[in-house]
Amino acid sequence: MLLKKNKQTNRAELKINGVKYHLDIIEGSTGEKALDIRQLRSDTGLITLDPGYKNTGSCCSSITYLDGEKGILNYRGYAIEELAEKCSFVEVAYLLLHGELPNLEQLNRFRHLLRRYALIHEDMIHFFDHFPPNATPMSILSSMVNVLCNYYPEMSDDPLENIDSTAARLISKIRTIAAFSYKKSIGHPLVYPRYDLDYCGNFLNMMFDRPVIPYEVKPEIVATLNKLLILQADHEQNCSTSAVRLVGSAGVNLYAAISAGINALWGPLHGGANQAVIDMLEAIYKDGNDFKKYIEKAKDPDDPFRLSGFGHRVYKTYDPRAKIIKKACDETLAILNISDPLLDIAKQLEEVALNDDYFKKRKLYPNVDFYSGIIYRAIGIPTNMFTVMFALGRLPGWIAQWKEMWEDPETKIGRPRQIYAGPTKRELIPLHER
Ligand code: ACO
Repeated sequence: MLLKKNKQTNRAELKINGVKYHLDIIEGSTGEKALDIRQLRSDTGLITLDPGYKNTGSCCSSITYLDGEKGILNYRGYAIEELAEKCSFVEVAYLLLHGELPNLEQLNRFRHLLRRYALIHEDMIHFFDHFPPNATPMSILSSMVNVLCNYYPEMSDDPLENIDSTAARLISKIRTIAAFSYKKSIGHPLVYPRYDLDYCGNFLNMMFDRPVIPYEVKPEIVATLNKLLILQADHEQNCSTSAVRLVGSAGVNLYAAISAGINALWGPLHGGANQAVIDMLEAIYKDGNDFKKYIEKAKDPDDPFRLSGFGHRVYKTYDPRAKIIKKACDETLAILNISDPLLDIAKQLEEVALNDDYFKKRKLYPNVDFYSGIIYRAIGIPTNMFTVMFALGRLPGWIAQWKEMWEDPETKIGRPRQIYAGPTKRELIPLHER
């Protein structure tokens, strides 16, 4: 790992009951500093308490860098703005997994693997028949991804053996599973993947092609989807990625760890916010566009309502992904010649919030989820599939993080401590006396 001890102040002093302890200060490649507390408990008998891990680094990582104050996001050292503009999702997936952008030969080999692995075992198709008609797509996705380990048990002994083909298999199949679950939910025949289409084109075709109305894969929409998936591809140690690492650290196979990540992403405070944003914008629309009422609700400490798609644990400025998505939103709607009233509401909501003291004081800005749903809607993706789309995008990041964890000799099973606050020892009263 790219870590060095900070040269100027390479140690911190901690004084407990008059006894001094020294803690190393370590520094990452961009100057972020951390107190190394690995020996804290054995030296002092104390642990740290940090609910929500607001101040806790769980690992050292060379994959994604973000600066929440300046609004910087880089994958493997490349700025997100440049990747979103100049690369395909498949190139970025390769970058996350391997640390380098692929040359043409490497890219073609990766593309070939993605095409080759696109089918799922035919038996798995029967599983779709047994979910209830209104089953949530995220529950189907996490179940089906979990089940993949039974059909492709190649990594049961050594987690890193075959990782490249397993990664390609998973990245390819998740898209087929997502599209099949949608087709099943609307009672349409499944559309199988095609060898001649690229990653995003193939997905769109599996989603929208019908025997009676062939789907035309439009390059502009493919480009938009590539962009969205790139923007969602990794975001260092967020809730779902931490879930993948934590569950993975117990030694489960990659499919099980990714399934855990999908479940974490599902939550409305995390990836589920993209669906919650559209639900919120629709509610405002039905409420006569009274968005100020919703701003007031969001500010009311006695009301649990929050402005979905606003605020972020790390960004205290405009989320750089949201900036790109907002622009892409205007472009996509123009290409498709769609005028969506929800986009106008979103923009008004943003403007009012950004000029409101409550949001200013708390540094709450639109995040990645605020505008993404409007694009997905315009492409034809149903609202209940938005978080599935996020999972498709985030998958290469999850796999890269899982791989990095297994390659790091310092990895240990994730196991936080606690401060016990329950009753101290009590006498047990037999049942008949209670
Ligand atoms: N609307 C209104 N108030 C908010 C919002 C919001 N969207 N977000 C935060 N706040 C307020 C909180 O009420 C709190 O106010 P207080 O200091 O008066 O108590 C303050 O801002 C700080 O908020 P926390 O919840 O402590 O911040 P935290 O870092 O724990 O939470 C989170 C971050 C979960 C993203 C939060 O901003 C939120 O709930 N946003 C809405 C859901 C959302 O968009 N999630 C997607 C995030 S991006 C992603 O995960 C892919």
